[in-house]
Amino acid sequence: MQLLLNKLWTCFQNRRAILIVALATFFACYGFYSSNFCANYSNGLDDVSKSTADYYAGETTEQYFSLGPENAARVRVSYPEPDTLSVSNSTENIHQTEPKSGQKAKRRLPQALIIGVKKCGTRALLEFIRVHPDIRAAGSEIHFFDRFHDRGFEWYRLQMPPTFEGQVTMEKTPSYFVTRDVPKRVFQMNPAIKMLIVVRDPVERAISDYTQASSKKLDMKNFEDLAFINGSSKLVDTTWGPVRIGVYIRHLERWLRHFPLSQFLFVSGEQLITNPAAEMVRVQRFLGVKQFVSQQHFYLNTTKGFPCLLKAAASPGPRCLGKTKGRNHPLIKMSVIQLLREFFRPFNARLYQVTGINFGWP
Ligand code: A3P
Repeated sequence: MQLLLNKLWTCFQNRRAILIVALATFFACYGFYSSNFCANYSNGLDDVSKSTADYYAGETTEQYFSLGPENAARVRVSYPEPDTLSVSNSTENIHQTEPKSGQKAKRRLPQALIIGVKKCGTRALLEFIRVHPDIRAAGSEIHFFDRFHDRGFEWYRLQMPPTFEGQVTMEKTPSYFVTRDVPKRVFQMNPAIKMLIVVRDPVERAISDYTQASSKKLDMKNFEDLAFINGSSKLVDTTWGPVRIGVYIRHLERWLRHFPLSQFLFVSGEQLITNPAAEMVRVQRFLGVKQFVSQQHFYLNTTKGFPCLLKAAASPGPRCLGKTKGRNHPLIKMSVIQLLREFFRPFNARLYQVTGINFGWP
């Protein structure tokens, strides 16, 4: 009897130990699970990959583009402003395709340049084309042809990302388009180079340019005070940067003294927002690379109202441009806009004629 009681007691003690371990395990697991659950729940609005996956599964990219910013999505995507990245960081981040047997990557002078135009969507174009495995681009603006030309081609080459044979090396510096000596210098480097120019309604571009400048200088005059000579007169100040840069044909004519039209591709800044995939078809054809970047690479961030990449070259997940791209513009009086439109109209018409493209600006 004593023996039986002893056995029962031992068994009870073992079971109690098992019960305690089981209860401890249960509470530990529950605590871990619930803390993760809470984190997931509170982060729900920022959970980019989940939200984009939802979008992706539900509708086609085109449908996203038909949604206006008023249908604000739950997604808010942000990433470091690429323009502020240093050259070395931004180029190192770029993914590499597999080298062909035994090949070593080398830094090479660019075979294609995005030469402008400032505030027309040049960063968007660069980020979109960098997704392509056969294209490698410097992440920052190098400013070789306008500022650092005296450093020589070897310096310039070293600013480029390493590439394998067959890959296209690119760079974008929008001030090239409007800087007097640049066409001649580019020609000296490579007379066969391909150049991409993003253009946008010059009135919108001027406002965008002004918005950027006034964000850096808080006591800046009003847009109309700067756009017109003596502020209130109707004479457009053609020396003011935001106006001067928008007379695209003037700058293009300078380039055409050195290069044939066939070496330029004009990218519509408006199309780059409303239908980036279609614009990328043209870009890839022009660069002579296979069609890779397509509709499936984009989604519309409806909060921002701009297309973003589902996967960018330098990041593992979805990526939108930084907050300095796609800013809210100040309200400008319609009368001012009309005057500027009238000013730009003949120059735009000449641009349409020379390029053979009607960009449809008002
Ligand atoms: P705003 O900020 O005035 O809207 P750039 O890169 O040449 O400086 O051009 C900036 C402009 O690119 C922005 O001007 C914006 O309109 C345009 N843009 C085009 N595609 C964009 C995108 N996917 N995300 C953000 N801005 C984009």
